[in-house]
Amino acid sequence: MPQGLGIAVIGAGMAGRAHAAAYRTASTLYEPTLPPLRLTAIADINPDFGTAAARRFGYERYESDWQAVAAADGVDVVSVVVANALHRPIVEGLLAAGKHVLCEKPLSDNVDEAVRMARTAAEAGPLARLGFTFRRSPGIAYISGLITSGTLGQVLHFSGRYWTDYACSRTAPMSWRFAGGPGTGALADVGSHLTDVAEFLCGPITNVSGGRLATVIGERPLPLGAVMGHEHSAVSDESVPVENDDYAAFNMEFAQGSGSIEVSRVAAGHPNTLTFEVFCENGSAVFDQRRPAEIQLFLSRGAGATDGFSQIILGPEHPYLAGGLAMDAPGAGFGQNDAFAYQARAFLEEVAGLDESRSLPRCATFDDGVHNMEVLQAATQSALAEGKRVHL
Ligand SMILES: NC(=O)c1ccc[n+]([C@@H]2O[C@H](COP(=O)([O-])OP(=O)(O)OC[C@H]3O[C@@H](n4cnc5c(N)ncnc54)[C@H](O)[C@@H]3O)[C@@H](O)[C@H]2O)c1
Repeated sequence: MPQGLGIAVIGAGMAGRAHAAAYRTASTLYEPTLPPLRLTAIADINPDFGTAAARRFGYERYESDWQAVAAADGVDVVSVVVANALHRPIVEGLLAAGKHVLCEKPLSDNVDEAVRMARTAAEAGPLARLGFTFRRSPGIAYISGLITSGTLGQVLHFSGRYWTDYACSRTAPMSWRFAGGPGTGALADVGSHLTDVAEFLCGPITNVSGGRLATVIGERPLPLGAVMGHEHSAVSDESVPVENDDYAAFNMEFAQGSGSIEVSRVAAGHPNTLTFEVFCENGSAVFDQRRPAEIQLFLSRGAGATDGFSQIILGPEHPYLAGGLAMDAPGAGFGQNDAFAYQARAFLEEVAGLDESRSLPRCATFDDGVHNMEVLQAATQSALAEGKRVHL
């Protein structure tokens, strides 16, 4: 019987490669407490994507289907990193085969399937966790700590945007991201992240209102080959309708405080701009994914103070970073790929039965994933009912 933990990744696309790389890095972070890791398999229905990723990230083999991973003896831990509509059958099959599963966000493409997945996970022996990588961004975790410690104090107002531009060209090809009903487009794709960040900082959303969904480019050309992530491949002359939202917005209320979110996949010039301002009783903080290694912080010195925002350069004093980078010197810089490594490390620590580490909290649960989807569903219902308030 092989020793240590055998790791596999289902899906060798844009985010699958980030998971594959993250497991390679996980044992190099912090203290050497993890059991030996074996990078066993990458599965993808596309043999070019799968074999290239297995070779690039040093996995022992390529598999053409997830069932082979489920059936393999030496695999203990599996990331599921495929289109949202495919999550449920693959996750359920892996859990039934006794594998620990880390599933990408959003948990599914509809709430009913997500609820079913959470029920299956609760009854299963192995762990089932969800990848909300932005919780792992040091700046966002630092701001969360400033809120909960009372330095910033009670949140009054959250204003967030997640703007992307992968669909602003009319020739961006049709892919799984453009299929599904209202709310499964930009709202699910990037709104799921921003909603989780909003609740991570401000607590549970109690109701949403002012929902808006818009499809601004109504059809997309079919690709001539396989499309990975946001890539723009060669396209055919044939176009098909876009089934979901390019743009979405909604207002929300928390138990205390309120806010709004606006997300887009047609925001030219913004490949990956998750940004928010959070206004609290003692000051406010600004995060922008374009400059993830810093935040802007304003701590109020009282009415009429004019000292304004300070730039905080994040380093080993801040969450995840001491020991979380090969060179963890102040100002070394870091990015979104590092957050995948922290997520993989946290998941492996939990699978290995290690105590929750001082460096890393546990990954989100499937129940968290259901709640996240219920918020997105409420935003969709609000949009379909001309912005009416929907309670959670
Ligand atoms: N956390 C993040 O920051 C982040 C970023 C991007 C994507 N995601 C999530 O990751 C998931 C995948 O997104 P992506 O951008 O990597 O997609 P992608 O289209 O780039 O890759 C999906 C891969 O799945 C493969 N595939 C399709 N059907 C399969 C099957 N039955 N078995 C095995 N492989 C199959 C495809 O060939 C492709 O290589 C989605 O849930 C998405 O929401 C998360």
